[in-house]
Amino acid sequence: MHAMEQINRNTWSAPLSLRGYRHINGHIDAGESRVFETALTRFRGGRFLDIGVGGGRTAALLAGNAGSYLGIDYTPEMVELARANHPDLAFELMDARNLHQIDDRSQDLVVFSYNGIDSVDPQGRLDVLREVNRVLAPGGAFVFSTFHRDWEGFQHAPSRASVVPPSSNPLIFGLRYARYAVGAYKARQRRRHEVRDGEHAILLHHAHYFGIMVYATTTSQISSQLAEAGFTTPPNIFDENGSEVSGQASTGTQYFHVFAEKPAWS
Ligand SMILES: C[S@@+](CC[C@H](N)C(=O)[O-])C[C@H]1O[C@@H](n2cnc3c(N)ncnc32)[C@H](O)[C@@H]1O
Repeated sequence: MHAMEQINRNTWSAPLSLRGYRHINGHIDAGESRVFETALTRFRGGRFLDIGVGGGRTAALLAGNAGSYLGIDYTPEMVELARANHPDLAFELMDARNLHQIDDRSQDLVVFSYNGIDSVDPQGRLDVLREVNRVLAPGGAFVFSTFHRDWEGFQHAPSRASVVPPSSNPLIFGLRYARYAVGAYKARQRRRHEVRDGEHAILLHHAHYFGIMVYATTTSQISSQLAEAGFTTPPNIFDENGSEVSGQASTGTQYFHVFAEKPAWS
């Protein structure tokens, strides 16, 4: 198992990360808005599975359009947070790599938003794609986002300002700065676990004060992995601005939003 597993799990369950996800609302960007709109137009009233639901940001966007809705997360603290934020909805503790509690062909739409799929190692990612394909009904779709391997932000050390959110309160800013200093120190050790392996890379991201290591990929690998898992290819891929990406993406694109369909005849 790659070191990213423990690093990411520690971050997701940390009180400060949970605080960040407590009140997060709305779409993260225009790309997500576009891909959700496509999915909701097609599957309104259907059976929705929301993976890596965190504090329930996407629950608010999806559940009102669903016939049935289940949010899952492998972090117990996140499941509790989602339940507290949405007491009327169903949330369960589950790992996307093993969805054995969910029947074959039982879902119309599966979502794994905000690059959650990038938290798991390369073998885990293939397991997620295989499991999602298994639980989808023929003609169903998988919507997810994933980091771009060639994003320019991975090539350069981030500025302090991009890691430390501003605050007019000197005490809060001081605490944030202290977290930054600790994170920057840990980043030196974590970078030793970075991998560049053909089409994919495992890279330290500055989010959560250098607290996550992400799987980052290319549009061609997104297609080939989806095909291997049984999806129709090519999928529809959008950038953060909601523009369709065909071929190689520009280095200004940090992550992609993907709409992938399971063949209706499968
Ligand atoms: C970046 S957060 C996104 C949370 C939420 N979807 C949102 O957009 O606000 C990623 C979430 O995915 C969850 N996660 C990561 N890997 C997972 C896995 N293998 N199975 C289930 N949940 C996972 C984490 O616990 C975390 O809550």
